Amino acid sequence: MISQNTIQQILSRIDIVEIVGGFIKLKKRGANYLGLCPFHGEKTPSFTVSPSKEIYKCFGCGRSGNTISFLMEHEKYSYVEALRWLANKYNVEIEETETSPEYKQQQQIADSLYIINSFAQKYFSDNIFNNEEGQAVGMSYLKERGFREETIKKFQLGYCLEERDAFAQQAIKNQFNTELLVKSGLVVQRDDRLIDNYRGRIIFPIHNTTGKIIGFGARIIKSNDRAPKYINTPENEIYIKSKILYGSYLARQAIDKNDECLLVEGYTDVISLHQAGIENVVASGGTSLTPDQLRLIKKYTNNLTIVYDGDAAGVKAAMRGLDLALEEGLNVKLVLIPDNEDPDSYVNKVGAATFAEFVKNNKKDVVIFQLEVALKDAGGDSIKKSAVVNQVAETISKINKAEDFTKQQDYIKQCAELLKIEETGLNALVNKFIRERISKQEAKLPADEGLYQEQSTGQTVTRVEDESFTLLFKDELQERAMVRSLIEFGLQQWDDNRRVADYIFEENVEHEMIDNKNLLRVIETYKTWYDAGLEPTSKNFLYHDDLQLSTLVVSLMDMSHELSPNWKDHYDGKIFTREELYKEEVFSSLNYLKLRKIKRLIDTNQKDMDKPHSNDEQLMMLQTHKALKDMEMELTKQMGTVIFR
Ligand code: CTP
Ligand code: MN
Repeated sequence: MISQNTIQQILSRIDIVEIVGGFIKLKKRGANYLGLCPFHGEKTPSFTVSPSKEIYKCFGCGRSGNTISFLMEHEKYSYVEALRWLANKYNVEIEETETSPEYKQQQQIADSLYIINSFAQKYFSDNIFNNEEGQAVGMSYLKERGFREETIKKFQLGYCLEERDAFAQQAIKNQFNTELLVKSGLVVQRDDRLIDNYRGRIIFPIHNTTGKIIGFGARIIKSNDRAPKYINTPENEIYIKSKILYGSYLARQAIDKNDECLLVEGYTDVISLHQAGIENVVASGGTSLTPDQLRLIKKYTNNLTIVYDGDAAGVKAAMRGLDLALEEGLNVKLVLIPDNEDPDSYVNKVGAATFAEFVKNNKKDVVIFQLEVALKDAGGDSIKKSAVVNQVAETISKINKAEDFTKQQDYIKQCAELLKIEETGLNALVNKFIRERISKQEAKLPADEGLYQEQSTGQTVTRVEDESFTLLFKDELQERAMVRSLIEFGLQQWDDNRRVADYIFEENVEHEMIDNKNLLRVIETYKTWYDAGLEPTSKNFLYHDDLQLSTLVVSLMDMSHELSPNWKDHYDGKIFTREELYKEEVFSSLNYLKLRKIKRLIDTNQKDMDKPHSNDEQLMMLQTHKALKDMEMELTKQMGTVIFR
């Protein structure tokens, strides 16, 4: 765990313009900076960064956040990874705090598993080179398949003897813990004995990106219909299948050099290609790519070339990862190996040079490929064809980073041609998918964020304000205004004795005045801090580890410094900045909420009066009504006339 002290140091050094500006081009516009939004395609910039508030906000797609959430979203970092990245950038030394006992225990298990795996690898490799059975069965199998000794050594391949517990006995002799041995998957417990799990199999060690062995794939040698072809390590503290790319440790440098990563299905494909001198290759393990695997590739290169055999299953599996890959901004190409061969058998058949040439000349853009296959499938059926149009539009809509905008436009052009439809039509359809996705994302944001839309028209920012919108969400806008006032002006003086926050809390805002639960949570959080003697500002919220809370507060921060809806009516002509008007703003927001509460009381009272009552009761209700009406009038009058100086 990174210590609180370190986090504070990092946060105090953050310069949002410098960080965000490192990823996208920003231009100064008044107090803020403006650029093209990296989260949706746009031609006119509506992505705004406020250095003073340390937040960004896109008036096009509505996304907003702080420096850390920017790194999390743009670079796909976790919270801790973002902190580490910033610490590195600002030369802040990371101080780790005492870790929790659970975490420590997990680390210990992981360390032990690495040690067991390393022991097992040496043991299995030794079998291949020095054991009679290992030589006769294991080595001869690998040689038959064309693997040279240096390759076998490089990949640390091994062999597990046919015996019942040859490895288990060695492991016990070396005092490895039984429970951990079972966890590693190398042995299984039967009755009270440990049995080797990979008997009579070739062992493929699987390394993580730093070269440590996290598990094994064990391939059967004799064909046997009842036994699985591969037995793999079960999921444990270090073997997490969705994060593994076989070969990544040995491929790293070659991927850098070629700025391209080849993706194949199997262990043997990776090994054969290495042996042929093609080293920028990793294997997915035959399943469709996971987000973690894609992210790993993306760290190395933007160019992913899938090299699969032509059979339908493999290609289908590859396609399932396609949309995700496009979203990550990867350029995905596909090469299909002909004649029922796979990369391993094909490179062995035609040789390294021909293979490399084949890959180079047969790269097909994967979006176009998918479209061509679907079109062939649809034939003359116009219903099927319209489904194809929709599908391709949705796929293209996933290419949605600003820097990929040209790529997206290229695809629209090419696909429209193939589909024989108008480019503008396809463009509109793609945009529809983007809009739909964004509104779905917004629906998930707290405090009905999605309803509070702002639109960018050229350079001036105007608020969408049709009538139904105002009617439906005015209360929420006012509640937001109240909470914003508290956060922005809470520490300013209200009068000689009180600060704004004191005044607001004396008026009991946190009691029955705010309907929106998330906004209420912000107020309550503020009050807890304030009562504890802290001086809360928006920054305390911005970096709150409750992401929902921080997102909500970011969305409240008003970067355009426009006047709140209250002011337009009362100060015709005169324009003050929000800071000058903070007292009025606080006063007005509060009065509005009070007014609303009174109106509700009047309503309830009115409804009661409509029911039959005794005379006394009627009289009391009438008096209540009058008192409430008086209060309402007084408040309305104040709101219209009072100006503080
Ligand atoms: N795989 C697996 N379990 C299986 C079959 C396959 O985990 N029962 C994974 C392995 O990672 C394997 C990959 O899927 O490497 C591709 O499968 P396949 O092409 O059948 O295996 P190869 O490794 O290519 O083996 P070979 O060339 O000997 O057929
Ligand atoms: Mn194979």
